[in-house]
Amino acid sequence: MASRSLLTRGAAATRQQLGRSSIAGPSRVRLSSTVASLAYTRDTAGESGAAEPPAATASTPQLSPHDRELLTRMLRVDHAGEVAANTIYEAQARVFGRMGDPKTEKLMLEMWETEKKHLAVVRQLLQQHRVSPSKLMPLWSAAGSLLGGVTALLGKEAAMACTEAVETVIGEHYDDQLVHLRTLTETPAASASAATQTTASGEPALHPSLPLLADVITEFRDDELEHLDTAVEHDAQMAPAHALLSAVVGWGCRGAIAIAGRV
Ligand SMILES: [Fe+2]
Ligand SMILES: [Fe+2]
Repeated sequence: MASRSLLTRGAAATRQQLGRSSIAGPSRVRLSSTVASLAYTRDTAGESGAAEPPAATASTPQLSPHDRELLTRMLRVDHAGEVAANTIYEAQARVFGRMGDPKTEKLMLEMWETEKKHLAVVRQLLQQHRVSPSKLMPLWSAAGSLLGGVTALLGKEAAMACTEAVETVIGEHYDDQLVHLRTLTETPAASASAATQTTASGEPALHPSLPLLADVITEFRDDELEHLDTAVEHDAQMAPAHALLSAVVGWGCRGAIAIAGRV
């Protein structure tokens, strides 16, 4: 069991490392006691019992062309990634259901539920910020189904290794986005129109969608890291050819991230 404990510590270290660089600053309203995505889902989700974040605005901030392009790519990648995550877990749940493994099927269904929430929110974010989806959406969807289906057919450990590799890359990706968002929120161009929103001293106020977006991405990142932990706890690193499988899946995810933002 010593090796298991080392493996678990490895995941915890990854989580700790990723958690350190989340966006934070004196001008930001922390939503740590809330679920940020409720700003986009509470109309349909109903009462959650949790403290609720501010309502999402329908508008998008005034940004420089460079920052607008940054935000566009960020949301386009997130949408493509969440679609792929949904198809991965959907395929894995279906395979384990057919293979007569209800325990693993349930785990996959539970993680799929989280991905459904992510996708519902990111679809609204695309609309709010007037971002068109990747032109390669059918490819990302099919690639997710193929990856999920093949790894599930290889067995529970391989499916969990897939989750481990995917969620590691996505956790890093969301953490990188939090760094980019910090630069956006510290840029005067990200301020709301001074004619409509100002601070008490008359300075242009930060557009409310940006700190809320940072909180949503923080929530998503933490959700993905929960999936990573789940995968490690369920023997991801016992998969045959684990290092090779992780490298291939991780390489594929990073390639998809690089392409989806541009196309
Ligand atoms: Fe997700
Ligand atoms: Fe996930």
